[in-house]
Amino acid sequence: MDPAPDRKHLKTLIPAAKVQARVAELGKQITADCSVAAGEQPLHLVSVLKGSFVFAADLIRAIDLDVSIDFLGTQSYGASTESSGEIRATKHLDQDIADRDVLLVEDIVDTGITVEWICTHLQRQRPRSCRIVTLLDKPSRRVKPVELAYVGFEIPDKFVVGYGLDYAQRYRNLPDICEIPESTP
Ligand code: IMP
Ligand code: MG
Repeated sequence: MDPAPDRKHLKTLIPAAKVQARVAELGKQITADCSVAAGEQPLHLVSVLKGSFVFAADLIRAIDLDVSIDFLGTQSYGASTESSGEIRATKHLDQDIADRDVLLVEDIVDTGITVEWICTHLQRQRPRSCRIVTLLDKPSRRVKPVELAYVGFEIPDKFVVGYGLDYAQRYRNLPDICEIPESTP
């Protein structure tokens, strides 16, 4: 694995202000689409750890509905930028999702292997509905076809970090979404 480059060598792909504006739009769109009637169960967000925790924290505040949230931990990549294709759950859900309207919150859909594995896993618990919102989508690398209800930004085949996304557990705290250069000095 290449060492993590110094922060000054990262190139900004999507500046923080643009990310924030798009998250606000997604929140409005979800609010308009998913009404929660009085007496009904709240819209149940499931944030996929670790990458989506920053996005989920902002998105939940942009949704003007009765919502609840839970976290699911998965690990797919180890410390490299290539998918191992193997997924394992590192944290299971705390709440039962049977008959619930679930909105799965992802940071990025790349090959689609992770999100497909998660959806199969969640469907076994018989939610009433299960839709996906992802901040980033890299459609050029898709291996598994997945239906994405909401996409923040489509990006090219670049490895990105920041706003929750990491390279070897670093850079999750950056407010911008940045590109890792192919080779660093
Ligand atoms: P997939 O299974 O190939 O769709 O990959 C999904 C997971 O891989 C994401 O949830 C991320 O954790 C990680 N991943 C994919 N692309 C990137 C990237 O560009 N930066 C950081 N993590 C990524
Ligand atoms: Mg993820």
